[in-house]
Amino acid sequence: MDLISIDTLTDEQIETILDRAAHWFGENRAHRPSEQLRGKLVFNLFYENSTRTAMSFATATHRLGAAAISLSVEHSSVKKGETLEDTARTLNAMRPDALVIRHRDNGAPAMVAGIVEAPVINAGDGTNEHPTQALLDAATIQQSLGRIEGLKVAICGDIRHSRVARSNAKLLPRLGADVRLAGPPELLPDHAAAMTIDEAITGADVVMMLRVQRERLETDLGDAPGEYLTRYGLTQERLASAAPDSVVMHPGPMNRGVEIDGTIADDPKRSLIALQVEIGVAVRMACLEMLVESVPA
Ligand code: NCD
Repeated sequence: MDLISIDTLTDEQIETILDRAAHWFGENRAHRPSEQLRGKLVFNLFYENSTRTAMSFATATHRLGAAAISLSVEHSSVKKGETLEDTARTLNAMRPDALVIRHRDNGAPAMVAGIVEAPVINAGDGTNEHPTQALLDAATIQQSLGRIEGLKVAICGDIRHSRVARSNAKLLPRLGADVRLAGPPELLPDHAAAMTIDEAITGADVVMMLRVQRERLETDLGDAPGEYLTRYGLTQERLASAAPDSVVMHPGPMNRGVEIDGTIADDPKRSLIALQVEIGVAVRMACLEMLVESVPA
């Protein structure tokens, strides 16, 4: 089994991942290392920049007693013209127990999964999907608000380029949430139902802000410093219209003063940003144990 998209996860598998993540986060909050995957080998291939996701998978791997090996893409044979297919064949011949990949091309993890025999986990492909981020977002909401069913979740910002938004827009409604997507008109997908940021945030239980993916923009937004925050960002004024006990999330990396006011990001009562990172390790442990154990011995 591979973990490429939210679409291919069954409801039972989603439930198992969230339950096991709660186990790893709860009982083992002190992060006692487990030996569950001792002797196993997890390859990490990050063809795009990453701080959280790369470190989170490596940490989860170590906490399960397995070894994580990261390919340093900058120094790899990609620079000598090797294709991703040939890289996948090469790595497959080393018999890893799982392979985690992030790539700028939509569909690259699915292609690699067709070559590599071990389970492949999508750690973000282009503008397509980032399934483990959506799973950790769901686990964080569940942990802090006690439920997902019936909650209003506003996902705001650069929806067009966000694999986080795409995976969450698939996962959270399956768990009973009412998801509202909103952003600047030029950063919304063509088919998106039009909603302003203010409409989406009003009455929301969860406000999830997204970075503008300037590296994926064909033309610059041309916004002056501070302009984006005033027009589309999460300001104290906008947040005041959300539900009284609402929480704020962000997958990171954050651009303070652009999509989010820094004082909101740092507010210990409302901001779940650090909790998302902490629960992210538990969710990746849950994903690894589900996938790697399914490999016949
Ligand atoms: C996101 C990503 O890479 O898709 N970050 C993450 O994995 N937590 C979001 C982003 O880059 O803005």
